[in-house]
Parts: sequence; structure tokens; C-alpha cells
Amino acid sequence: MGLKERIESLQARVGIIGLGYVGLPLACEFVRAGFAVIGIDKDRAKVDGVNRGSSHVQDVPDALLTSRVGEKGLRATTEVECLGECDAVIICVPTPLRKTRDPDISYIVSAVDGIVRTLHRDMLVVLESTTYPGTTEEVILPKLEATGLVAGKDIYLAFSPERVDPGNPRFNTRNTPKILGGITARCTEMAASLYRRAVDTVIPVSSTQCAEMIKLLENTFRSVNIGLVNEIALMCDRLQLDVWEVIDAAATKPFGFMPFYPGPGLGGHCIPIDPHYLSWKLKTLNYYAKFIELASEINSNMPHYVVTKIVDALNSRKKAVNGSRVLVLGVAYKKDISDVRESPALDVIKLLQDRGAQVLYTDPHAPEVHLDHGVLQSVPLTDELLEGCDCVVIVTNHSAFDYPRIVEKASVLVDTRNATRGVQAPRGKIYKI
Ligand SMILES: NC(=O)c1ccc[n+]([C@@H]2O[C@H](COP(=O)([O-])OP(=O)(O)OC[C@H]3O[C@@H](n4cnc5c(N)ncnc54)[C@H](O)[C@@H]3O)[C@@H](O)[C@H]2O)c1
Repeated sequence: MGLKERIESLQARVGIIGLGYVGLPLACEFVRAGFAVIGIDKDRAKVDGVNRGSSHVQDVPDALLTSRVGEKGLRATTEVECLGECDAVIICVPTPLRKTRDPDISYIVSAVDGIVRTLHRDMLVVLESTTYPGTTEEVILPKLEATGLVAGKDIYLAFSPERVDPGNPRFNTRNTPKILGGITARCTEMAASLYRRAVDTVIPVSSTQCAEMIKLLENTFRSVNIGLVNEIALMCDRLQLDVWEVIDAAATKPFGFMPFYPGPGLGGHCIPIDPHYLSWKLKTLNYYAKFIELASEINSNMPHYVVTKIVDALNSRKKAVNGSRVLVLGVAYKKDISDVRESPALDVIKLLQDRGAQVLYTDPHAPEVHLDHGVLQSVPLTDELLEGCDCVVIVTNHSAFDYPRIVEKASVLVDTRNATRGVQAPRGKIYKI
């Protein structure tokens, strides 16, 4: 039986390398669609957790995971050799930046090296990790074809970007349209036939490069627009205007305007990182990606701007940062999630500590954070804590926070998210960006 028939009869076995924020929800969708899935992760603790039905990903509750785990469902392992049993392998490993802000595709390379050892005729390989245009064709294809198997004939290779928005109650892996581009038309067709079983909509495109570029356009679009609105916030500050009022009123225009909101800076594994994959690739072609670099500069300066607001707030109470107790509310990079990767809260905390502040934080979703110089633990949010701190800073606007109470009890407050909108406070008590 050929791969197409194995997919259509649900007999194909799917392997997913990397059981993180992207891979685990995807594995669950393939099981729901009726496939047996082998999840491969090098992190033993995650593998054991998955096999016990204990989830490390917020969007996959334990009950759902438990219903998906089993011999005919999802089985997790650290053994790369298990890929030999698979008809299709999907790569969902991290793609971070090096210290020099160049792409680090070493996780992709190591995953592909594992696949090559077990590659067999009629195998489909799909890369989902975000990366620069050309990775699938220039890095993965030569490694697979070095085995003598030819893409589009003996094996199939495609790129399909993951677009999941963690914590989004409306859009998930299943109902977010899936972009897909293969090395050949036959590769696209084979990958599309697999994904159509698991997700509602598949959008085939002409090449792997095009699919890679689409993802980078989407995330660069966000980064640049957030950079623009962050600069508008800096301008409004100089003009003594409320940027939030300006944006809300502009958003009443029914066409030609889409609201973006300022904040303490970018966070997460995608928006602060992905555009640099694109600008790096363009540098190799002697092109300087101006919008990307400018947006990155503005966005990465926002934690410094937040600290100037904290300085102003403390100054209004005749206090210096050095020696003050500052309480940070929320360290996750966005509302109602636990992910602290690249979170601007970590930068704000570090900048304050460098200036001699005693920083505490509270976050119902993130019990501890690892900083350069040690671990910080979330403290319970009590009236005494709020009253006992010199300044309270809202970095992440979690729904669990009781904002009227926070405003009432804090001596002075910096609000980076307009979370205190509509809450009555004496003049000069709330500093907003
Ligand atoms: N998190 C998101 O919201 C999101 C959204 C869209 C796209 N992406 C992209 O998806 C990719 C994965 O992101 P993520 O957030 O799921 O990362 P993650 O860190 O949550 O998960 C990656 C997993 O891969 C495992 N891993 C790394 N190398 C491995 C190897 N060689 N073999 C087996 N396991 C390995 C790690 O242990 C980890 O569990 C990245 O390219 C990211 O940019 C992420």
C-alpha cells in the first residue's frame, strides 16, 4: 500500500519531533483524526509526563491529553530510532537566535540527522519550525537526498508553518488555516492529504520558500506594527496625550485601520525572534531589512521606557529606584498564559535590579522565573504586599488580577497595558505608557 492510501485509510503512522507548544497540540489533533502518533522529544521529563497524561502545555489540558495517549493514540519516547516505524515525520523543534542574533537552526539539523538514519522509501517529512526562506530546500533536502532517495519520487518533503496563538480561545491548531508548500507538486499533494485529515483548511502554495516566507511576513507584520504603535506611544507621551484614547478612537474607523497596542516590549518564542531570521537571510543577499531592524530597536527599548516611568512614579513620592521595593504584576509575555520566554518582564526586572531596587513579582500562571543571577519566585498578592511596596508595575494584564483593589492599595502604579482603564484613582497615582 502506498503512502497516499495509508494516509487515506488512517493506517499511516505519524511521528512528531518536539513535543512543545507546537508539537503536543498537533500530536493530539492527529490522534483525534484517527492516526497513531509517536511523539519524540529529547526531554525525558516531558516524555514521561505525556505518557502519564500530565501536560506541560497550557492549551492541552490533562483530561484531553489522557484521552489521546495510548497504543493506538499518542505514545511519547526519547528514542529517535522509532521514526523508522513512521510514514510521516513532522519537525516541531525550537528555532532560537544565537547570542549574535543570527539564526540557530542546530535543532532542525539534529532532528533531520535523526530522520536520515531511519529514512525509508515513501516517507513524508514536514518542517513546521519557523525558519528563513530556503531552509527546507537548502538544508534539509540535500541531507535526505544524500541517502539516494529522491524527493517527489521516493520520499516527500514540505514546509508548513505553525501559526498557533497560545491561549487564544477561538483559534487553535485545528481551525487555523494551514499553509503548506512542498519541494515538488507531488510533495505538496502528499503533505496536504495528511494535514486535511487533521485540520479544517489547508492552503497549498507553490514552494517551500513561499511557505517559509509567509510565516515571516505574518510575524514581521506584527513586529513592525507593534513597533509603530510603541513609537506612537512615545510621541503621545511627549505631546501629553493618552495613547490609549487615540488608538481606541482611531479603531472606530471601519476600514483601513487595524488597532495594535503599545506595551512593555515583545515576548514569546516568535515575534521578537522570527523577523531576525528574515533579515539575516537578506543580509546574505546584500539587502538590509530596514523595517525589521527599526521595529526591533524600538520594541527592545520599551523595557527601558517602562523603567523611566517607574523612576518618574517613584520620584513623585520622593524616592529613588535604589533601595525601593518594586512589585511586578505578571511576568508571562502575554495575558493569561504561563510562557515567560523572551518576556519583557524579565528585562524590566533586570533593569530595576541593576539599579538597586528590591524586585518582587506575582503571577498566577508563572510560579518562578530564571534570571541571569538566580531564580525568583512568585509571591502571593495580598493587600499588605501592595501597601508595602513603593511602586507596583503592571507588566502583564492577567484576567485574574483585581485591578480596582490593586489601584486602591498601591501607593503609586505604572500600568504598561492600560489594565486599569476605567478604574477611579487620585491624580498622579497611575502612570501609563
Ligand atoms: N510557541 C508558539 O506559539 C509558536 C507558534 C508558531 C510557531 N512556533 C515555532 O514552532 C517551533 C517550535 O516552537 P515551540 O514553542 O513548540 O518550542 P518548545 O521549546 O515549546 O518545544 C520544542 C521541543 O522540541 C524538543 N527538541 C529539541 N530538539 C529536539 C530533537 N533534536 N529531538 C527531539 N526533540 C527535540 C525540546 O525538548 C522541546 O520539548 C519554533 O520554530 C517556533 O518558532 C511556535
